[in-house]
Amino acid sequence: MALKGFSMYSAFPLVRQFIPGTTASSLNEARLASIEFGGEVHAYCVAYLPQEFDEMMTCATHITFNSIRQYEQFKPRLQANPKKISAAIRINPEFSEVETDLYNPCIPGSRLGMTADKFGATLPEGIEGLHSHTLCEKDSYALERTFEAIEQNFSHLLKQIKWLNLGGGHLLTKIGYDHDHLIGMIKNIYDKYPNIEEIILEPGSAFAWQTGYLVSTVLDIIESGGKEIAVLDSSISAHMPDCIEMPYIASIIGAKISDEGNYTYKVGGLTCLAGDQMGPYVFEKPLLMGDTIVFEDMMHYTMVKTTTFNGVNLPNIGIWKEDNTFQLVKSFGYEEYKSRL
Ligand SMILES: Cc1ncc(COP(=O)(O)O)c(C=O)c1O
Repeated sequence: MALKGFSMYSAFPLVRQFIPGTTASSLNEARLASIEFGGEVHAYCVAYLPQEFDEMMTCATHITFNSIRQYEQFKPRLQANPKKISAAIRINPEFSEVETDLYNPCIPGSRLGMTADKFGATLPEGIEGLHSHTLCEKDSYALERTFEAIEQNFSHLLKQIKWLNLGGGHLLTKIGYDHDHLIGMIKNIYDKYPNIEEIILEPGSAFAWQTGYLVSTVLDIIESGGKEIAVLDSSISAHMPDCIEMPYIASIIGAKISDEGNYTYKVGGLTCLAGDQMGPYVFEKPLLMGDTIVFEDMMHYTMVKTTTFNGVNLPNIGIWKEDNTFQLVKSFGYEEYKSRL
């Protein structure tokens, strides 16, 4: 399970019954993974911080590097480490079916993973795995097409690895997901590449797909430009930022996403951001002040974006004074990260 999508550790004992490990995208996530989940901890960070790498090695069982340069930088420390950690490089197969650029790791100019032209005939010494992540809420057929693209450019490297991580974005829990097709496809890869001992999938969303509610209350109803807006005690910007980023309109129980009906409202947030609103929705009856509005599917990504996304520490807060001294007021670490979950 990729913790970047869902890291509510109070649910780990349930999830742990079904899977052997987690994926972490920062030291905070790796610590949470090793302390609260256990099992395999697959780290993949866009870049590792030198001052955090020793601790990262104590938490992780597998470490994927985003570039050969990062691998070369940390290789001496990896090789000197008494604990065996298997290392990989993330590839960019330059093929992705993700429609939204914000979520597409293969857009031109992407910083995520290395394209085939950056590799030589052989993998850097010590690299045992390859990692590819190009999907988002996709089925096994999209994975199959993606693997064909990987094979086109990286087949010589596929013959050199012990493990292949096919990333996340597999919506395994969506009704209609063809699990038999996925299993058949994975078996074909094992048959074709006998050197590959382990194929890893690291979905996040799938674990919490269509779960979780955000409950809010109508505080005011404003008529503006002939339309009605229900002002809530929550905020799209502060509590559902992925709705603005993606953008997508979250479902509300008892309402349809539409502007055609008798009781049509947008819902607006408590912040002063003009765009902190969503909809329109058609409700079954007129909204009244004090009504409860329940947003659905609020668990995966929504929750991590309002706690600490990717487990990446918030910046320090301090005061830079006129005499050019800096007074550190607050810094953030694992305890702050964990306490928000
Ligand atoms: C490297 C990597 N692995 C796994 C995931 C999890 O993807 P999802 O939650 O879509 O399954 C992501 C999501 O961004 C990712 O970047």
